[in-house]
Amino acid sequence: MSRVVIFERFGGPEQLLLRRTVEPRPGPGQARVRVTAIGLNPMDWMISSDAALAAAFGVSIPSGFAHDFAGVVDEIADTSLGFAAGDRVFGSVSSRAAADHLIIGPTDIVYRTPGGIPDDVASTLTVAGLTASAALSVIGVSSSDTVLIGGAAGGVGVFAVQLARLIGATVIGTAASTTAPFLRELGAEPISYGPDLANRISAMAGAHVSAATDLFGTETAHAALTLRVPHNRISAIAARSALPIGVLLTSARDAAPHAMDIITDAILAGQLRVPIAEKFPLDRIQDAVIAQAARHTHGKIVVTT
Ligand SMILES: NC(=O)c1ccc[n+]([C@@H]2O[C@H](COP(=O)([O-])OP(=O)(O)OC[C@H]3O[C@@H](n4cnc5c(N)ncnc54)[C@H](OP(=O)(O)O)[C@@H]3O)[C@@H](O)[C@H]2O)c1
Repeated sequence: MSRVVIFERFGGPEQLLLRRTVEPRPGPGQARVRVTAIGLNPMDWMISSDAALAAAFGVSIPSGFAHDFAGVVDEIADTSLGFAAGDRVFGSVSSRAAADHLIIGPTDIVYRTPGGIPDDVASTLTVAGLTASAALSVIGVSSSDTVLIGGAAGGVGVFAVQLARLIGATVIGTAASTTAPFLRELGAEPISYGPDLANRISAMAGAHVSAATDLFGTETAHAALTLRVPHNRISAIAARSALPIGVLLTSARDAAPHAMDIITDAILAGQLRVPIAEKFPLDRIQDAVIAQAARHTHGKIVVTT
C-alpha cells in the first residue's frame, strides 16, 4: 500500500486528505520514486485553495498535492529516463509530490541528488532555489551591487540572500524586527518591512541600493523605485497584478541552465545552508500547511514520509 495526499475540493488545509492506495507502477518512459521528503512552497496550498490559480497551473480536482520532492528511484519501466533503481533523485512535479510513491516522466524536473546532500535539504531546492537564482540573474546582480531583498527570511529569501552574498553583493533584507538576527546570520543587513521603508533605507549608514528583488509582495519594489533603482534592476516573484509597470516578474523558469549546479556545489562547499524551520510527518500534512500559510517561516518547511 501507498499513501497519497489529495484534495477533492478547493479550500483550506482541511481539504487535504491522506488516502491509502495501491502502489503506482511506472509505465513506458517512466520511473517510480520512493519519496522520502517533500519541500513545501506557498504555491502548493495557494493552488489547493484557489480554483482559478489551479486552472492557471493546469491542475484540476481531484488532485494530488505539492511540487518539490526527494527520494530514491525504486522501479523503472525502461531505461529511457536515464535513471536506475537505487538512484537518489530530487526535483519538482505538478501538484502530486506529497505521497509515498511518485511516478516521474520526461516532462518532470528531476536531478540526481549529490552524495553529501540529505533528502530533506534536496527536497527544498527546486522551486525556491531556482526562483531565487532567477530573481537575481534577471537583474544582473554583481559584486558591485547593494541589493535590497524583500521577504528575505522566507523559503525563497534564504536562497536569494546567500546566492547574492556568494556573488559578492552587499545585501539588505526585509523581515520582521524579531527576524533580524536570523537575517544577519545568513549574511544580510536586516531592515524591518513596513511604512517608510525607502526613507529608513536611505538613513542606513552607507546604503546605496543599486538592485532589488521583491520576494513577498510589492513594498520592496516600490521602495526600490523611490530609491531611484531603475525598473530593469528590480525583479519580483509574487503579487503579479499589483506590480509597478516595468518591474521584472520572474520565476524558476528564468533560472540559468546551470543554476542548480551552483546551488548544490555551494551547499557541498559549506557556502550555502538551507534552514529547515520545521519538519512534519506526512500524516500531519494539514499542520504543515497551516504552519507555512502563516507566512512567517524562516527557511523551508519539509514533510517526511
Ligand atoms: N514566481 C515564482 O516562480 C514563485 C516561486 C516561489 C515562490 N513564489 C511566491 O513568492 C512568495 C514567497 O515565497 P516563499 O516560499 O519565500 O514564502 P514564505 O516562505 O512563506 O515566506 C515567509 C517569509 O515572509 C516574510 N514576511 C511576512 N510578511 C512580510 C511582509 N509584509 N513583507 C516582507 N516579508 C514578509 C516572513 O518574515 P517574518 O517572519 O520576519 O515576518 C517570512 O520569513 C510567495 O507568494 C510565493 O507564492 C513565486
